Amino acid sequence: MRIRQHVNPNQLHFTRFRGERPPLDGRLVELEVGCADAQFLFERATVDPSRLYVGLEIREDLTILVNKRARSLGVPVHAVFCQAQLHVKELFTAGSVERVYVNFPDPWFKRRHHERRMVDDALAEQIAHALRPGGEVFVQSDVWEIALDAMSTFDSDARFENVAGEWTFWKQGNPYGVRSWREQNAEETGLPVWRIMYRRAMD
Ligand SMILES: C[S@@+](CC[C@H](N)C(=O)[O-])C[C@H]1O[C@@H](n2cnc3c(N)ncnc32)[C@H](O)[C@@H]1O
Repeated sequence: MRIRQHVNPNQLHFTRFRGERPPLDGRLVELEVGCADAQFLFERATVDPSRLYVGLEIREDLTILVNKRARSLGVPVHAVFCQAQLHVKELFTAGSVERVYVNFPDPWFKRRHHERRMVDDALAEQIAHALRPGGEVFVQSDVWEIALDAMSTFDSDARFENVAGEWTFWKQGNPYGVRSWREQNAEETGLPVWRIMYRRAMD
């Protein structure tokens, strides 16, 4: 299957939710926004198979591959084709998600493409809705500008508390015992990784 490298998330085509809803059934939910091959979630499912691992992904072909793999392995991973900045609220009731991962969002380096970046106030609004009070948001990037953008978005939003202190990166590494594909690649090629950890404040 040929997988597109990038898609423009602002296309009208993505406005309406057309994905397959995750099987929410009372298990604690961990959510990765922009999961690609969902390596991170497959590994999380090995660490703790009692939870449900939902990956949001705008490239539909990838969600098909992830779901096929999850079924064949019999693991609780489910990829949902959607535009995360628009559809998290459609998928999850308020406060129903335990933890959110934003691993290595696309950098969209060209200035005219900055509007395609995934972490913005719209995404923060969607996450603030879905995450339970006290639940974590973990952001990672190997691109300084993207890490700063994410910090600016979440630190400016009173619904999120920066666990390391205001406007401070998380310096204790990835505490979840698994790595995303991009994270593994960055570490193996010696790229720096900036991380930020937030907690959803009580309303
Ligand atoms: C650089 S990849 C990182 C994949 C994975 N998280 C990792 O760390 O290996 C970013 C992923 O986010 C997806 N993506 C970008 N914008 C999105 C959006 N608005 N909604 C859902 N997924 C998005 C892209 O298609 C891509 O697969």
